[in-house]
Amino acid sequence: MRRGIFRPAARVASAVLIGSFLVGSLVSASAEEFPREAYSYPVAGLDAAAEDAFYRGRVEFMRSWSFPPGGGEASGLGPLFNRISCAACHQKNGRGQPPSGPDERMLSMLVRLSVPGDGPHGAPKPHPAYGGQLNEEGAPGVPGEGRAALSWDAITATLADGSIVALRRPRIEFVGLAYGPLDDALFSLRGAPAVFGDGLLESVPIETMKRIAAEQPAQGVHGVVNEVYDVISGQMVPGRFGWKANSPNLKQQIAEAFIGDLGVTTPLFPEDQCTEQQAACRAATKSKNRPELDAIRLDDIDFFNAHLAPPPRRDTDNPQVTRGETLFLASGCGVCHVPSLKTEAHPKFSQTLPAQTIAPYTDLLLHDMGEALADGRPDFHASGRQWRTAPLWGVGLVPIVNEHSLLLHDGRARTLEEAILWHGGEGEAAKAAYAALKRDEREALIAFLRSL
Ligand code: HEC
Ligand code: HEC
Repeated sequence: MRRGIFRPAARVASAVLIGSFLVGSLVSASAEEFPREAYSYPVAGLDAAAEDAFYRGRVEFMRSWSFPPGGGEASGLGPLFNRISCAACHQKNGRGQPPSGPDERMLSMLVRLSVPGDGPHGAPKPHPAYGGQLNEEGAPGVPGEGRAALSWDAITATLADGSIVALRRPRIEFVGLAYGPLDDALFSLRGAPAVFGDGLLESVPIETMKRIAAEQPAQGVHGVVNEVYDVISGQMVPGRFGWKANSPNLKQQIAEAFIGDLGVTTPLFPEDQCTEQQAACRAATKSKNRPELDAIRLDDIDFFNAHLAPPPRRDTDNPQVTRGETLFLASGCGVCHVPSLKTEAHPKFSQTLPAQTIAPYTDLLLHDMGEALADGRPDFHASGRQWRTAPLWGVGLVPIVNEHSLLLHDGRARTLEEAILWHGGEGEAAKAAYAALKRDEREALIAFLRSL
């Protein structure tokens, strides 16, 4: 029933209080009232027209697609794909999780593929038979590409006080491959990240990213801006989205998801992605809708994703949490997980996303995180060891919204502590600082993360 309550409640709030500051506090109150929806609220202050656009976009995000020629306005799934909707992987606008063993399918994560060398505009070079991503599913008559079977190797980490923490490392085996071997492929296992706050991250000035990068070496850390190809402007621009900041803006990220994850064409990517070897894919029935998702609906979903609000913090006057915040900063976590950034007005949505101060706990920069986290697969300027600092806002609500606590790009960490203990490379010193803390200090730092 909660879902039914969700929209009307938000609508009443803004219908009564449009333009008032109270809208923001009411929306926050709702996030507290319905914690499983904490990633699903729009930013405060949307007027009725903006709210309509938001909810139209939400319908697109939730929509299940069908194989052509059926399906009406949702016609166009496949020929090759992973899931039938955006929300299937980003449940409740939150994050996915890896399978727990090799017999389980990947339901909310994917495997990016490439071969060594540069593709067009410095993008990863697609695998000649499989393309840029393993699509496990196919439309009727089109063989799915195969499956990535995931198993876990157990290892341990030891803290300064002698406590031992069990960790697990993923191992992938490709099974049932339909288009030949994948032995030569580079691959990167990636879980679906949460999708709130992205309009605000899109509003962080490039100059800010560059300034932070320039200041970090003095603190022993070397963040770099990824440079990726923007299909809309035809330029190389800073990357912001994806685990390696491999996508330049929200609209392109969304269109990449439609074509890559659902097989749905958009004005940005108007052609189905079948390789030479994939004859059945190329011959598959096309939808009558060309593109399958038109520009107006793509704009709606862009508006929706841009306006999903980060959840409010909790427990901020708890002394353990404030102590944990001090330890977080003292351990050097905040050098990469930057607590506060000033945005400029959003380039497209300046009315609804004005300049403001945000608390994303990221620098949007790439960092060498060491060999243990490396995927060995470059992505534009990101090396096989570099990852974008994961934003930590909302991280404390993952267990409530998504009912699991699996973290990092491939979901290997089962707890916040495990996530910290995987930090290597530029994150080694901060990890060592954490591992050297006393038990009650570690608990305070984790309590702070849970309050985000
Ligand atoms: C098969 C699972 C899957 C499906 C389906 C899926 N996504 Fe994603 N999504 C991901 C993964 C994995 C990433 C990270 C991609 C990367 O690192 O390259 C991601 C990243 C994103 C991001 C960037 C978030 C960030 O902060 O970096 C957005 C926005 C997004 N997806 C929106 C969508 C939309 C819209 C759809 C539907 C068209 C969709 N996704 C469908 C798995 C999925
Ligand atoms: C050198 C930069 C850097 C420093 C310093 C750093 N981190 Fe991170 N952190 C990252 C990156 C990059 C990732 C993403 C890594 C991945 O997914 O493989 C990450 C991921 C995380 C995650 C998982 C988030 C998610 O969404 O899955 C947590 C939790 C985290 N860091 C906490 C901390 C804490 C606590 C500290 C201090 C002890 C710290 N980090 C220090 C760069 C850093």
